[in-house]
Amino acid sequence: MKGSLLYEGKAKKVYTTDESDQLILSYKNDATAFNGKKKDEFEGKGRLNNLITSNIFEYLHQHQLETHFIKALNETEQLVKKTTIIPLEVVVRNVAAGSITRRLGIEERTRFTPPLVELFYKKDELNDPIINDAHAYHLTDVTEEELSSIKQMARMINEQLMGLFREVGLQLVDFKLEFGRLEDGTIVLADEISPDTCRLWDLETGEKMDKDVFREDIGNLIDTYETILQRLEAYTCAK
Ligand code: TMP
Ligand code: ASP
Repeated sequence: MKGSLLYEGKAKKVYTTDESDQLILSYKNDATAFNGKKKDEFEGKGRLNNLITSNIFEYLHQHQLETHFIKALNETEQLVKKTTIIPLEVVVRNVAAGSITRRLGIEERTRFTPPLVELFYKKDELNDPIINDAHAYHLTDVTEEELSSIKQMARMINEQLMGLFREVGLQLVDFKLEFGRLEDGTIVLADEISPDTCRLWDLETGEKMDKDVFREDIGNLIDTYETILQRLEAYTCAK
């Protein structure tokens, strides 16, 4: 049963449940970008990100990658294991796009082999700055061993997701992950994986099929996310 509201973020609300080690995530229709400076609301977005994340986390479980996800409860809510989020945004990049093109003057569409893993400090007041490992040890409780395992998990998740998205005609350009600590200290993948947190380009047309349609005002967000969900469902149901 859904308990009290524990926390409200930009894209989700978090509720307690009857079980002390489980939480309910409720996906909102709000869209924000550029650290909340651009805002809008899209009817149906919460449903799409909930169902897309659920589909992807189930796929990761089938490939022995552990996450906080337990099950989707309804169209906009999912049950997850309770974790304490480590305030790091772990970004994996296969192809240059977004902030790295501006920060380092790398041309968009340049390939990274091997993929790059970057760390950002999750702190709205500071605009989520990019940080290095030493900063992460100072700013969070993560140990050297844990950070190395987080980066390894991020690379393995990237391998699986590149394969999944390729099967549905999409190139996984980059994405952001967050990890959380279970009560026993184990670190697992948490938060969401959706077109809000990934860059996805259509393999045939090169068209952007993610939150960049909102950031850059270049298309219909709901139609785009619906296409992603339908392609993922068609692939995972057929298997
Ligand atoms: P960036 O190019 O802005 O650094 O973003 C890299 C990837 O991480 C992109 O797929 C979007 C995702 N991302 C988030 O999900 N949340 C964020 O707060 C940021 C900055 C990026
Ligand atoms: N998610 C971040 C924000 O809302 C950055 C972005 O996606 O553009 O500020």
